[in-house]
Amino acid sequence: MENINFDNVLNIIKPSKEEEERVKSLSNKLISIINEIAALNNINAESVLVGSVAKNTWLHGKADIDIFMKFPLDMDEGDLKEYGLFLGIECIKKMDGKHELRYASHPYVTGFINGFDVDFVPCYIIQSAEELKSAVDRTILHTEYVKKNLKPEQRNEVLLLKKFMESIHTYGAEFKVGGFSGYLCELLIINYGKFIDVLEAASEKWSPKIIIDTEKYGTQDRFEEPMVAIDPTDKNRNVAAALTLQKISEFIIASRNFLDDPKEDYFFDKQLNIDLNDIKEEFKERKTKTILIKFKPPEVPADALYPQIKKTENSLRGVLEREDFKVFNTDSWTDEKNNVIILLEMETWTLPRVKKNLGPFIWSRNHQERFVSKYGNKSYVEGNRWLAEIERKHKDAEPFIKDILIENKIGLLRFGKHIKKEILKEHQIIDILEFLELSECNKDMLLFFYEYLNKNVYLSR
Ligand code: CTP
Ligand code: MG
Repeated sequence: MENINFDNVLNIIKPSKEEEERVKSLSNKLISIINEIAALNNINAESVLVGSVAKNTWLHGKADIDIFMKFPLDMDEGDLKEYGLFLGIECIKKMDGKHELRYASHPYVTGFINGFDVDFVPCYIIQSAEELKSAVDRTILHTEYVKKNLKPEQRNEVLLLKKFMESIHTYGAEFKVGGFSGYLCELLIINYGKFIDVLEAASEKWSPKIIIDTEKYGTQDRFEEPMVAIDPTDKNRNVAAALTLQKISEFIIASRNFLDDPKEDYFFDKQLNIDLNDIKEEFKERKTKTILIKFKPPEVPADALYPQIKKTENSLRGVLEREDFKVFNTDSWTDEKNNVIILLEMETWTLPRVKKNLGPFIWSRNHQERFVSKYGNKSYVEGNRWLAEIERKHKDAEPFIKDILIENKIGLLRFGKHIKKEILKEHQIIDILEFLELSECNKDMLLFFYEYLNKNVYLSR
């Protein structure tokens, strides 16, 4: 590692003393305001700081302040929600911030206060995982575990790992990414010791299935996922449950690339050279046909939206392949507000007029009679089976897609009703070469097409 200076990197990615001061004093202020409002209104609640700010593992400029409001276990869930929202909103008002309601396993409030995003989340006071009432109740236990088990000198190691993960696009447990969560990064450092040790383990030692068990619970057989990181605060939970095999692989490859040729660039965004004409040329040169389906996203939370879009993409791929069209690759993208794009790149998009239709085995006279009466002189025997050469219903992929995205056919597709509703309201089916000419093709969409053409572009520098 002689050709890399981690101090240089840390100087840039680590919060300055001043940033630390600001974040901590704002957090403390918010906590005392919440506790004050609770006392004034006779609400039995106590707020605490959790997440990366509490653990001192946030990246420079990325402090999202997570404040949890703890309620007694015997409080009714409806009251907990109501009081939680009330306290959050009142606190944000008092600080002249803006608030917005969000939904995880239960509703919470997000505020934008003095330039920081602050989450106010109600939860129950629990001493151990057995008392768990909702998924967020664990967060306090996580925070305590990391504060207790991450050595002060390992804080820098967490920052390096998080930033590396972020720059190679494997950071974030949300469905949009399916990558490594902040807590998982911390557990990896607690388990392996240093940033470099995590990368070395990933490069040399990881194989299916990867087991991280810092507390030696030995419960890995209860989990099916490719990486099992047993939650130190709950032996029945896999911290890596949302981590996809894809993101594990990407991290392993990037680790090998980095160890082969370490560069500070690995800790920063990759500079891309995105040119509309290059993209157009590349799609043209592939000699495939790329069809886009564009529509408005339904109004559901992001963590519900991404899986629904994936499902739609897979379902479209499935129906195309059932009609004998060969799909080369598919992908999807959304800005979560105005546009969803599903990309279908076709290897075969036009088919001959005739199609072989497989009939019954010859052994049954009954079946033969039904088949032959249906297909007449188009039917013939081949080996021990009846066959018929019939006219193909759908010879071209594009009109076929148009034809199934309508009221009485969309039912054949297997994806969520929210997306179906949006597609039925309005959608566009368009060849990518045509779409690239339109003014509505914006920078973010172009980036999506670029990433589609340049897979794994972030894994090397
Ligand atoms: N959490 C969790 N599982 C998730 C997401 C979050 O258990 N999929 C819990 C973790 O205990 C985490 C806390 O919620 O520490 C706050 O979540 P988040 O802000 O996403 O993670 P941080 O650890 O704060 O990391 P950062 O904000 O720096 O990304
Ligand atoms: Mg956070």
